[in-house]
Amino acid sequence: MLLRVLGSAAGGGSPQWNCGCPVCAAVRSGAAPARTQSSVAVSADGRRWFLVNASPDVRAQIEASPALRPRGDRATPLEAVLLTDAELDHTLGLLLLREARGVRVHATPAVHETLCEGSGILRTLERYCPVEWRAVVPGAEFPLVDGLSCRAFDVPTTKRDRFGTSVAEGRVVGYRLTDARSGGTLVYLPGVQALTTALRAEIAGSACLLVDGTCWHDDELGRLGLGARTSRAMGHLPVGGPDGSLAQLPSLGVRRTVFVHMNNTNPILLPDTPERRLVEDHGMEVAMDGLEVEV
Ligand code: MLT
Ligand code: MN
Ligand code: ZN
Repeated sequence: MLLRVLGSAAGGGSPQWNCGCPVCAAVRSGAAPARTQSSVAVSADGRRWFLVNASPDVRAQIEASPALRPRGDRATPLEAVLLTDAELDHTLGLLLLREARGVRVHATPAVHETLCEGSGILRTLERYCPVEWRAVVPGAEFPLVDGLSCRAFDVPTTKRDRFGTSVAEGRVVGYRLTDARSGGTLVYLPGVQALTTALRAEIAGSACLLVDGTCWHDDELGRLGLGARTSRAMGHLPVGGPDGSLAQLPSLGVRRTVFVHMNNTNPILLPDTPERRLVEDHGMEVAMDGLEVEV
């Protein structure tokens, strides 16, 4: 199984257009590469690909990924889009795929409902091209292609339900992907608020975990005077601190852990910060756009 990180930043990217925080300023000064918004592409063999989330940066992300570019006429190697949730920065890119012959979307009923009745993204997309919805049932394994299969798992969250969803389960999911041929397993979890026992079981023993790296501090935004919402209140377990993901993950026996979905304020985005050194001292990584993983 191949995975390519298309976007390693959280919503807004890095730097964020209206943000002058120290990390955005450092990125603008060249201290670290810019990063686009959260999305990955997965494939069994490098020929047929699945997006997990479609970010507002999807067009540039596809163009930056030779394997995702069309072959000949309009034959795109993109088979479908899997969604972890209905967040705007994880789904707005669906509208940018409107030139497709059709778009297949794998999403839970909760996410599908939000995209139809709430943000209306799928209702709008349907006016441009056929949209096929495949219902994702948390806990149920389903085949993707060529021995690559997938299981969504529910991610409990108290984050704001911006559009109001009638069902709680499946509002946010993670995906565990398995390659029958290599036996490799990979977990993609860009949004997690707490590592519950059930989530630990989904993560344990995987060859590679790409996990929520949104904020270092729980009060990261508050420290910068950028708002009062905590990382946890936004649905994101902070990386740092005694009860952060950096402290909790080592016990799960994951071979390779990569942080993704970094908010523009997160100091781990910069190569020379104490926080980045702590991540690396724990044997973990901070994703960049274009990172490729094979399991
Ligand atoms: C989220 O992941 O919580 C939302 O997409 C908001 C964000 O990423 O900024
Ligand atoms: Mn996000
Ligand atoms: Zn910033």
